[in-house]
Amino acid sequence: MKKKVIASLLFSLTICVIVAVMYKEARMNIDDEPKFSLAEEQSKDFGLSNVKTISGNPVDPHLLTESEDCAKCHQNSFDEWKVSAHARSAANDPIYESHEETFAVKEIGQDGITFCAGCHTPEALVTGSVGKTKWTSSKYEQAGTSCIMCHAISDVFPDERQGIPADASYVFSPELVHEYPFANTNEAIESFLIRSAPKRHASDFSSKLYKEAEYCSSCHTQAAPNGKIEQDTYREWLNSSYADPNSSEFSTCIDCHMAPVPGERDKEVAGRTTDGGKYKKKVLDHRFVGGNQALPYLYGDQEMFKLTEKMLKSAAEIEIVDAKQENGKFDFKVKVTNKGAGHNLPTGATDLRQLWIDVEAVDENGKILFASGKLDEKMEVDPNAVMFHSKFYDEKGNLIDHHQVWRIARREDHLIPPKQSKYGEYSFTLPKNVKKITINAKLRYRVSPQYFANVTLREFGDPGTDRTLPITDMAVTKKVIQLD
Ligand code: HEC
Ligand code: HEC
Ligand code: HEC
Ligand code: HEC
Ligand code: HEC
Repeated sequence: MKKKVIASLLFSLTICVIVAVMYKEARMNIDDEPKFSLAEEQSKDFGLSNVKTISGNPVDPHLLTESEDCAKCHQNSFDEWKVSAHARSAANDPIYESHEETFAVKEIGQDGITFCAGCHTPEALVTGSVGKTKWTSSKYEQAGTSCIMCHAISDVFPDERQGIPADASYVFSPELVHEYPFANTNEAIESFLIRSAPKRHASDFSSKLYKEAEYCSSCHTQAAPNGKIEQDTYREWLNSSYADPNSSEFSTCIDCHMAPVPGERDKEVAGRTTDGGKYKKKVLDHRFVGGNQALPYLYGDQEMFKLTEKMLKSAAEIEIVDAKQENGKFDFKVKVTNKGAGHNLPTGATDLRQLWIDVEAVDENGKILFASGKLDEKMEVDPNAVMFHSKFYDEKGNLIDHHQVWRIARREDHLIPPKQSKYGEYSFTLPKNVKKITINAKLRYRVSPQYFANVTLREFGDPGTDRTLPITDMAVTKKVIQLD
């Protein structure tokens, strides 16, 4: 008897709550969102980062729903995100974390770190646990680019000097996300309400902006506080045919990096992105597969590692051309084409990334006549290798070799723009009586020189473990030339 009464009481209560929510939903539509003016906003405690919030102050930490909480209804998106570089952009990216501690904190101090935080540890910045005046160790430093960080961005705005979104120029507004009743008191009822009336929830976490490359630009264009550009992925894309809406190849960052089958941007896969939710013709992948195979390698995520290698392999083509014998010399070129990346190859942290041609010429007896781009015993690349990357220099003209991006005064780029090719040119003295030459060439990729990994990965995992960085052969070719 008692049970029945409680059950019917609970039932009526639930009905009342649903009616209340529906009523509130009907009244509060998107147009009723609190108004605010970007111009009036001032980043008060966000130091060198461009991040803005509605109040201009750090946000109330209880508004930062944890990614694990979203997983309760979006398990697939969560599982994908968990192995992504976004989930590991923060203190849990050993490369970032130890670089920040070893170099950044010492050279640019607390205020300088706010600059990094807008992109790498955004939750720590927006909650004020890392600010120009304080630094409290918290779970927010581990949260990475979380679900809420991306899905509660209400706007992006141009950086003053760059004229495009850069250096974390986004407006983070979790206050605009409608809180369902019982959000902080009874999770079961709150979940029930979201599931029964998800429209408001779905629209609060969606935006037309999220389909645009500018949105990604806010964290994928990086310029030093002196205005010198460090990462230029968005502009590289903007200047390419991929950004032309009239081109059959038009693809945004999302088309390529959230493709349901990584590396195959035209494939569509149907499925559900909400447990028990609508069946959609095309779902998106939150792994954001890019080029960084070191992170999944270090974390032991084999599938993510394989997908990253596949993505890398989809980007490039290699060919041996113009091989000829002349006046006792043998000349040839290796042509490298950026066939699949919607920006330069490589892009992003191009001062760290290494993309180089490993090539050798052997005679009919297997004797090596010429080689370039080999690794030495310390796993460093031959200094004469043809390498596609950037070199940053400081004011005194010294090479910046440990990603101390804040010192940049000048840069030299050797990168391959989308759809374009660059050549490695080689020549060697031909020994007498050689009848046949086989040239083997490959395009290799790793995230940084080994010396950088030796510093940054010293304390990751079991100390003393071999931390040789993985190398991916993005494209391989061979040519046999009969000599007369
Ligand atoms: C209690 C369950 C629940 C939780 C927790 C939840 N969602 Fe949802 N979400 C839903 C439902 C239900 C929909 C509507 C899905 C549909 O229409 O198929 C939805 C839709 C969405 C959409 C729109 C996508 C689409 O398919 O239309 C986004 C984006 C989203 N949620 C993000 C989030 C984020 C981010 C979090 C964590 C901050 C979160 N959700 C937490 C249940 C939930
Ligand atoms: C780097 C930013 C970013 C992060 C981090 C992120 N999302 Fe998304 N999410 C997006 C974008 C962009 C879209 C596509 C939006 C569109 O097309 O309208 C999207 C789409 C979705 C959708 C709809 C998916 C579909 O296939 O249509 C859901 C659900 C969702 N996100 C939930 C989550 C959850 C849960 C998390 C955390 C586990 C998360 N997102 C983390 C940027 C992000
Ligand atoms: C709040 C900042 C932020 C936003 C917004 C953001 N990203 Fe990122 N993203 C990062 C950071 C930081 C990393 C690098 C993490 C690391 O390696 O430590 C990253 C990594 C990536 C990678 C992996 C790179 C690799 O080397 O494998 C891809 C791909 C990517 N982002 C694409 C996108 C796209 C597409 C969007 C827009 C839908 C987007 N990101 C929005 C901060 C952001
Ligand atoms: C036509 C498909 C395509 C488009 C469009 C595209 N990308 Fe990529 N992206 C790739 C491929 C393939 C790779 C792997 C090769 C590489 O590392 O460059 C990649 C790599 C990356 C990396 C890792 C670079 C590295 O080597 O460390 C980042 C970061 C990235 N993309 C961000 C973006 C952003 C942001 C946009 C939009 C402005 C974008 N991408 C647009 C295909 C694309
Ligand atoms: C505008 C956003 C932004 C800012 C500001 C920024 N970064 Fe990054 N950082 C990124 C992105 C995006 C990547 C990944 C690019 C790629 O994959 O090539 C990255 C990559 C890195 C990497 C290599 C990580 C890896 O896993 O290989 C290190 C180290 C790093 N950043 C350190 C820093 C430090 C230290 C600061 C502050 C002085 C900083 N970054 C400021 C966006 C940013």
